[in-house]
Amino acid sequence: MFGSKTQSLQQRAQKVMPLGVNSNFRFWGDGITPYVQKAKGGYLWDVDGKKYIDYRMAFGPIILGHAYDEVDQKVIEEIQKGILFAMTGELEVAVAEMIVEMSPAIEMVRMACSGTEATMHAIRVARAFTGRDLILKFEGNYHGFHDHTLWSTYAPVEAYGNRRSPIAVPASSGIPKGMREFIITLPFNDFEGFERVMKSYGDQIAAVISEPCQGNCAAINPQDGFLQLIRTETEKYGCVFILDEVKTGFRIANGGAQEYYRLQPDLVTYAKALGNGYPVAAFGGKREIMSIIGHGVAQGGTYTNNKPGIAGAYATLSLLKSKPILKTIEKRGQRLMEGLKEIFDENDIPSVFTGYPAMFSFSLNTDSVTCQRDWSQSDHELYIKLADKAIARGVMPDRDAREPWFLCYEHSDADIDETLNVYAEAAKEIKR
Ligand SMILES: Cc1ncc(COP(=O)(O)O)c(C=O)c1O
Repeated sequence: MFGSKTQSLQQRAQKVMPLGVNSNFRFWGDGITPYVQKAKGGYLWDVDGKKYIDYRMAFGPIILGHAYDEVDQKVIEEIQKGILFAMTGELEVAVAEMIVEMSPAIEMVRMACSGTEATMHAIRVARAFTGRDLILKFEGNYHGFHDHTLWSTYAPVEAYGNRRSPIAVPASSGIPKGMREFIITLPFNDFEGFERVMKSYGDQIAAVISEPCQGNCAAINPQDGFLQLIRTETEKYGCVFILDEVKTGFRIANGGAQEYYRLQPDLVTYAKALGNGYPVAAFGGKREIMSIIGHGVAQGGTYTNNKPGIAGAYATLSLLKSKPILKTIEKRGQRLMEGLKEIFDENDIPSVFTGYPAMFSFSLNTDSVTCQRDWSQSDHELYIKLADKAIARGVMPDRDAREPWFLCYEHSDADIDETLNVYAEAAKEIKR
């Protein structure tokens, strides 16, 4: 699939890095793992110099475009004044003010460096606030690499047991067995199961954590009323509702899923699009909850005010506030989704589209996808076959059907047209 430089770099990398990568998710297999040379706007070039329209967007952070000049200029200007301090600067206060202003559910916020850190801190705060230990999460949702919620994330769903009494399955060796005591898992969009579990365990649950859509499982949307049910049930039992907006935040709307669904969770986590790729994250929420931090509740980090991340966030949020960036992405994404749907229909491939124009996915040879258990029945092999043909023609979605397609502001109408041409050819070829 890739050229000779890619192959030799993979061999070199595998001698010094497990799988030859710095995140398991970047490994597609021996001989089929891409290695990048550079990226600009909506494009990237692999080490063999081949150009692609990129729809992976670094797993979601790139909301404006790769190497976006206005953001990079602000970062360069700021890092020349020092990159890290054991004290607080004005720029990070300004970023916190912007997050509070743009996010309907956030009154106070703390910065972090990654989505993993943001959800880890939010869970600590929720446990401290409620004095409880149990966390409820949904199968197929991913909240980062810490041990608290890395359960029933990527396992084959056969291991999850019956949906009435799901088995929580650790997604890795090395997670202490004892942590199973602190986690309850449920299928996403299971209204009846959620109400039943809340009735039994609600008063022991510290937090219900959920992505608004299943951003790590084909962007499966919440059914009407599901997020609202989480809100009312958590209120009823005094649990903290943590909305994990690491993928949806500053992407599906300036105010994220809180604005999109008119939702008031207790805590919210951000990363990814917040900094257009610079390492920055945040968690925040109600003043009553956030203000326990520092009063017997520990939170911090040497790099939580790192200047590249803070300056990246400052520039990105300033642009999102001042231009109709997300509306433009939405229009182009809508055309891409509709065009792909038409191609699958024309080629008699049943498809279900999920997510939002800025972050969507499709499941093939199926007619309904409401949770990871449904998604696992869809035709992943066909998804990969199409993706491989597209990649060979210079259009790069992720090969993993669970990972959504991400659009950025610099994806042009011509890029959308080219992508549709490539998928039309690929679909026709497969049909033949
Ligand atoms: C919803 C969600 N939460 C948390 C994380 C973890 O973020 P990070 O990779 O920055 O640690 C991710 C990463 O993909 C995510 O999608």
